[in-house]
Amino acid sequence: MKRIGMLTSGGDCQALNAAMRGVVKSLSYSGEPVEIYGFLEGYKGLIYGNFRMLTGADFSGILTKGGTILGSSRTPFKLMREPDENGLDKVEAMKQNYYKLRLDCLVILGGNGTHKTANMLREEGLNVVTLPKTIDNDLWGTDMTFGFQSAVNIATDCIDCIHTTAASHGRVFIVEVMGHKVGYLTLNAGMAGGADIILIPEIPYDINKVVDAINKRSERGSKFTILAVAEGAISKEDAALSKKEYKKKMADYKYPSVSYEIAEKIQKKTGLDVRVTVPGHTQRGGSPCPYDRVFASRLGAEAGRLILKGEYGFMVGYKNREIVKVPLEDVAGKLKMVAPDSDIIREAKLLGISFGD
Ligand code: F6P
Repeated sequence: MKRIGMLTSGGDCQALNAAMRGVVKSLSYSGEPVEIYGFLEGYKGLIYGNFRMLTGADFSGILTKGGTILGSSRTPFKLMREPDENGLDKVEAMKQNYYKLRLDCLVILGGNGTHKTANMLREEGLNVVTLPKTIDNDLWGTDMTFGFQSAVNIATDCIDCIHTTAASHGRVFIVEVMGHKVGYLTLNAGMAGGADIILIPEIPYDINKVVDAINKRSERGSKFTILAVAEGAISKEDAALSKKEYKKKMADYKYPSVSYEIAEKIQKKTGLDVRVTVPGHTQRGGSPCPYDRVFASRLGAEAGRLILKGEYGFMVGYKNREIVKVPLEDVAGKLKMVAPDSDIIREAKLLGISFGD
């Protein structure tokens, strides 16, 4: 008998359900009796002992379902060691609930913050297996995260729709894509949607270079320009500020987001009409794309296999086209970012895409 605790933590994404279904299916298929304890709303459920016993029926019909049947929440890692408002020691509470339920292991699905806590629980002696979810694809130790390809599809659809209206009106359009620290989503959706300019956090932009790229298109007879801009796109001047100076600047920031600042500057410098579109959380919503369904199922199946073998302390990831296990201590606290000198950036530049650098 295996007693498994399961939780989904952090921002949700597509294929969380597909991944959990994969774990449960592979465990059940092995013939080993299993009990699944689903902790509700991420680590909160584990801290406060809020769980539901789940059976095979709970995982039936959820392969295609977005969101997470367990609910999720953000419980920042930096607050984990701080007592809650009633003085509860959260880490001790998680451990106690784990031992009280006599769990064999926890299956934790999440992104960067989630992995820091998962690794801490491992260090505290709990058995943990994790699965890499995030639309940002910014987890260290895996070439791909589930949710990413579905989000690329949605952001690309958005850029596709903008294309037709941008062409009709001869405007400059900015599509703001999710990703505060990392630009994989913007880069991929931007390239897939044929954006002319792509601005990502890893490559600070010079607004004059952005304007040059727009003017060059106008000179060549193109009536419109499309920019894919990451939420975390940053100008060269801002990137040069100290943390303190940048924080001060942002405290008085008058724009809803960076795209509106860029739009205002482009409008002033070119006289062209500029519009901003923000697909926002639609990028995390809806049904997972086929790639994510397959990918999340594969990761889930492998997690099930590890659990049956009693191999704990790993994230199941994807490296060089293979499903692999990566030690949690190698994953926690590291960010996978787009390398400005990577092949894909070089190739995008060969296609004439400007990164404003
Ligand atoms: O989970 C990743 C992410 O979707 C980022 O791309 C985005 O910047 C952030 O979460 C949004 O967070 P929230 O849902 O808390 O507003």
